Amino acid sequence: MTPNPDRFLESLHALRSIGAVETGVVRPAYSDKDIEARQWLAAQMEQAGLTPYFDPVGNLFGLAGVGQSLLIGSHSDTQPEGGWLDGAYGVMTALEIARASKEAGGPPVSVVSFQDEEGRFGVTTGSTVWSGGRSLAETDGLTDSDGVSFADARAKMADLVSGDFLDPARFTGFIEAHIEQGPYLDTYQEAVGVVTSIVGIRDMRITLEGQQNHAGTTPMHLRRDAFQGLSEFNARLNERFRAVVNRETVWTIGHVALHPNGASIVPGRAVFSMQWRDGDAERLNRMEEIIRQTAQEVASARDLRLSFGALLGLEPVTMDPRLQQALAEAAEAEVPGRWRKMPSGALHDTTNLARHMPVAMLFAPSIGGVSHNFQEDTAEADLVTGLKVLAGGVARLA
Ligand code: GLV
Ligand code: MN
Ligand code: MN
Repeated sequence: MTPNPDRFLESLHALRSIGAVETGVVRPAYSDKDIEARQWLAAQMEQAGLTPYFDPVGNLFGLAGVGQSLLIGSHSDTQPEGGWLDGAYGVMTALEIARASKEAGGPPVSVVSFQDEEGRFGVTTGSTVWSGGRSLAETDGLTDSDGVSFADARAKMADLVSGDFLDPARFTGFIEAHIEQGPYLDTYQEAVGVVTSIVGIRDMRITLEGQQNHAGTTPMHLRRDAFQGLSEFNARLNERFRAVVNRETVWTIGHVALHPNGASIVPGRAVFSMQWRDGDAERLNRMEEIIRQTAQEVASARDLRLSFGALLGLEPVTMDPRLQQALAEAAEAEVPGRWRKMPSGALHDTTNLARHMPVAMLFAPSIGGVSHNFQEDTAEADLVTGLKVLAGGVARLA
């Protein structure tokens, strides 16, 4: 099978134009631009001879016939400030492989764009529900940082839904191509990463409530300042984590909402995201204990009310050896000596699919290791190399 680089790049840029802002893309899950992109993608699938299928949460499949097929894809929703390749690269390489395979009379290849991989409602929401990681009823009750429920968000796509969730057994395996989003391939001037494993993640919303009051008249010793609580929590946490983390462990407070967020008001409430990632599930659990304990201590000392939201997360997973081998052989054939095996520090829908089928992932380099940023980019030649390696891997598996 011979994928067509020009056709692939043209499609990739067409998707980029939907929700384009500066050099990046703003297409968060269930936004008008996200839905527009999914409708455009469904039309592209149809033109490629695939049958578009929207499931109840807006995951979009392009099905190759009714029998079993290999599934390839990623996601087309973006972060609130997203790069143009995160997710889009995997979906558009998949579409090109499906086209090329059809033209060459190759194996049946279905395509997917999962919904809300970027976690407006937690972590890889669409593939989590599809794979049975969390029930639809429970997911419907989750809210985004503005308080919108998942049920209300997905209702925006109700008119498009084709039917119930597809049976994962119709797919023989899943491969996701993605940009690395980290510095290794770029630093070592390598063209391809064959992923060995994906780290686990935990994500939890934490609320500290004190007393909103006047910033000029309230003496420091009488304040119950929610921001001061958050600030102390963060400092203590960084200190305590030192005893349990290693160089791969990461943790982030990436979203903070202070109420009422006024310069002359002692903040009465701080709601913030607490996320941590590591390849070892035991370490993730230990970190959770430290987070809960530290928050409790700070809240007690400062007379703040503390509450924890639902603990969301995914376990670490390893990639299927046979699929990995097919991609590794294809990489060695395409760019001999210029590829590596590597773990993924970013989360991907692949983690959820591992529950049902053999899975594998392929990385293309990210310039400067930058992602979740409008500046995210990859050299065109590297985008095309990844496409060819993916095609080589699929051909080997057939
Ligand atoms: C997915 O984009 C992640 O946060 O790793
Ligand atoms: Mn992604
Ligand atoms: Mn992402």
